[in-house]
Amino acid sequence: MGATVMVTGGAGYIGSHVLVSLAEAGYRPVAVDDLSNGNRAAVERAAALAGQAIPLEVVDLTKEGAADAVMHRYASMERPFAGIIHLAGRKAVGESVAAPLKYYESNVCASVRLLRAMHRHRIRSMVFSSSATVYGRPDAVPVNEQAVLTPANPYGRTKLAIEEMLRDQSRADRGLGVAILRYFNPIGAHASGHIGECPQGEPANVFPYITQVAAGIRDRLSIFGNDYDTADGTGVRDYLHVMDLAEGHVLALEHAFQSPGCLTLNLGTGRGVSVLELVRTFERVSGLRIPLHIAARRPGDIDAIWADPGLAARILGWQARRTLDEMCADGWRWQRNNPKGYADKDGSGATEAGIVSAARLSAVSKAAMAGDSE
Ligand SMILES: NC(=O)c1ccc[n+]([C@@H]2O[C@H](COP(=O)([O-])OP(=O)(O)OC[C@H]3O[C@@H](n4cnc5c(N)ncnc54)[C@H](O)[C@@H]3O)[C@@H](O)[C@H]2O)c1
Repeated sequence: MGATVMVTGGAGYIGSHVLVSLAEAGYRPVAVDDLSNGNRAAVERAAALAGQAIPLEVVDLTKEGAADAVMHRYASMERPFAGIIHLAGRKAVGESVAAPLKYYESNVCASVRLLRAMHRHRIRSMVFSSSATVYGRPDAVPVNEQAVLTPANPYGRTKLAIEEMLRDQSRADRGLGVAILRYFNPIGAHASGHIGECPQGEPANVFPYITQVAAGIRDRLSIFGNDYDTADGTGVRDYLHVMDLAEGHVLALEHAFQSPGCLTLNLGTGRGVSVLELVRTFERVSGLRIPLHIAARRPGDIDAIWADPGLAARILGWQARRTLDEMCADGWRWQRNNPKGYADKDGSGATEAGIVSAARLSAVSKAAMAGDSE
């Protein structure tokens, strides 16, 4: 079997899909997660999909010495980490405005500790989850990696701070290979429907909101603003399939293995899609109607942003392959089969498939056929 790779945040949404992609590419992933927003069952199911054991180390990376202890243990088992894919962190923009120190602690401080531990254990390759949020309100779209970085909230500023730290460290430590990935808007789920996004409480992003309305968990979808400067007035974003994103991590890690220095890449499709277009696509793919409500704009939201993904294509040979239809179909399969997400947090992995009752699905379908709307 291949090299051992640490995946911090491996029990989370994107991390669980990265575990599957790494295993499929022949690596031995190890998930490191404090389960603050992750699920043991996500790792268990990723392991089942991958057909190999995937250990989960329940560790809080903000604690001094925590990452060291895991690295030391795997080195002493003769399975030293060849590289790290670092996804652990907090990601709720609104919460970061209310509690910025929590975000600097979880994102920036944990990353400092992880980098120090990496250095001590001579781990030479890292992939880091950054975000299109670092661009703030771009001057032009599509946005490329040279654009000015003006994140508009503390969450985005923690991502930028970590990016700068990684660039500085890779200049100081010449053997280090780093790939910073600026994700656009990952949605959807593994095509099996066994792993997917499992928001705790109210979803912060539009796609899980749509699937929860479709499942009858919420009554209607609020669209924040229909007077943006876009074709249909709703915000435009670059949605990409989470499995395309996961596969990009494997290629980025392999690049970091070969190439010291720091590379920064956008991962997106290069196509802008409006919220309304996303909803209409979901309705067509699922055969369900999503009741809508137009609400006021949210402060800080921008009209439109999508990626120029050309650099990732040139350097990694990576391109998003899956269509918007597949994102909707796969995301809906996950939601439909797991209406309560990973049903419990303690790891039995039990789900309550079938809770979206046949009666509810048929009622929603009938409403769709009757053209019923709010
Ligand atoms: N989902 C998106 O739309 C998006 C977009 C751009 C960037 N990102 C970034 O990608 C990464 C993964 O995002 P996600 O959507 O999978 O989020 P997620 O919340 O599902 O996953 C993050 C994981 O990190 C874990 N974690 C948090 N703090 C930790 C700590 N101190 N120690 C150990 N584990 C900790 C959580 O338990 C969780 O499982 C995040 O860094 C996020 O900022 C996400």
